[in-house]
Amino acid sequence: MSTLTAIKGFEDRFSPESDTFTYIERVAREIFFRYGYTELRTPVLEHTELFCRGIGTETDVVQKEMYTFPDRKGRSLTMRPEATAGVMRACIEHGRCAPDAVTKVFTTGPMFRYERPQKGRLRQFHQLNCECLGPVEPAADAELLIMAMRFLTALDLKDLSLQVNSLGCPSCRPVYRERLHQWLCSLPQDGLCEDCRRRMETNPLRVLDCKVPGCKELTADAPHILDANCPDCRAHFETVLRLLEKAGVPYVVNHRLVRGLDYYVRTTFEIVSDQIGAQGTVAGGGRYDGLISQLGGPATPGLGFACGMERLALLMPERTPARPDFYMAVLDEAARDDAFLLVQKLRDAGLTGEMGFTARSMKSSMRQAGKSGARYALILGTDEFAAGTVTLKDMDSGEQTSLPQPEVLSRLSGASL
Ligand code: HAM
Repeated sequence: MSTLTAIKGFEDRFSPESDTFTYIERVAREIFFRYGYTELRTPVLEHTELFCRGIGTETDVVQKEMYTFPDRKGRSLTMRPEATAGVMRACIEHGRCAPDAVTKVFTTGPMFRYERPQKGRLRQFHQLNCECLGPVEPAADAELLIMAMRFLTALDLKDLSLQVNSLGCPSCRPVYRERLHQWLCSLPQDGLCEDCRRRMETNPLRVLDCKVPGCKELTADAPHILDANCPDCRAHFETVLRLLEKAGVPYVVNHRLVRGLDYYVRTTFEIVSDQIGAQGTVAGGGRYDGLISQLGGPATPGLGFACGMERLALLMPERTPARPDFYMAVLDEAARDDAFLLVQKLRDAGLTGEMGFTARSMKSSMRQAGKSGARYALILGTDEFAAGTVTLKDMDSGEQTSLPQPEVLSRLSGASL
């Protein structure tokens, strides 16, 4: 019978890789809590319409990348490709987005996009996602960016570039969009890739985001969106930048940063590493003031970002798993119950360790103890069983001592493990 394998782009993750993910989540929780975020858990499956309305029907995510299928009653469901739309749905449904209050939530979990898998790009990937609903003030944008950078710094990640842009608002962006469209029409069309020729008509800003070298070159002198920002958007963006400067957070203004999801207005940003190849964007986000009302909620501004955990993990050194305190070696079947109970007692007291479930020879037991990486081996053989003792072997020095069973706990707890 053929063996079954995981689906392409879906990965299994054992320790120590999984330890890195746990560590990233722990640091995230600590930093996000400091900024007033609490955890929200939302479903992995949502009605497809949520993403069409939330992300935008013209985006690559909605057009090409969603895992969408009918349920048993024929309703169209989608595995969430990102967290924001689901978080908005939850906050609207549970009355958490009153326009005069601030709601800060973070989520963590798997997202699903049918993309071509490569290094740093999976079909099931994991995001840490923060959303802040309520504030219209630019200080909220600056706070979010600072928090994102503080989090990445707390993970000890270096050489990251924070790239920022302002996509304007519903009053100034259409003017820029038209100007850009006109400008793109003036280019030799055969120099643009097929996607860009289509995007030019449906969503011309996305042309600026094309990775095809020919398109990049041809559009190098495209008009800058910041030049088309209205005075309010400009003032908002300038305050964000000023606060970043005052907080000592370096940034680069990237005129071509447009993001792949349609809900953004004003501040948008990405945090990029040049150390993981083509998929170097470790985090992205921005402001989405119209999204909540677009999804049927009250007119509440909002902003947020998400980090790709797999990409963060690629930048981090492998974590060394914690060393167990003991390995209990049973050399005589008669001693098994005593050993079993002693091990439970040690664990109840907070020590970590394992035991061999069947009696083995000394040689084989010591091999197991070595493999487990334990600091001490506890040996219970025929003699120890008869005398009510345990032999304690220091696995680093090889030194052995015999001690009464009731003393094992105090001895191990007292040892500088
Ligand atoms: P996004 O830029 O689509 O934004 O994704 C955020 C991050 O998720 C990316 O920067 C990347 O690190 C990671 N990511 C995306 N796709 C993949 C993939 N196929 N494989 C591995 N990692 C991936 C959003 O999702 C927005 N919802 C962020 C946001 C929150 N904006 C406002 N609030």
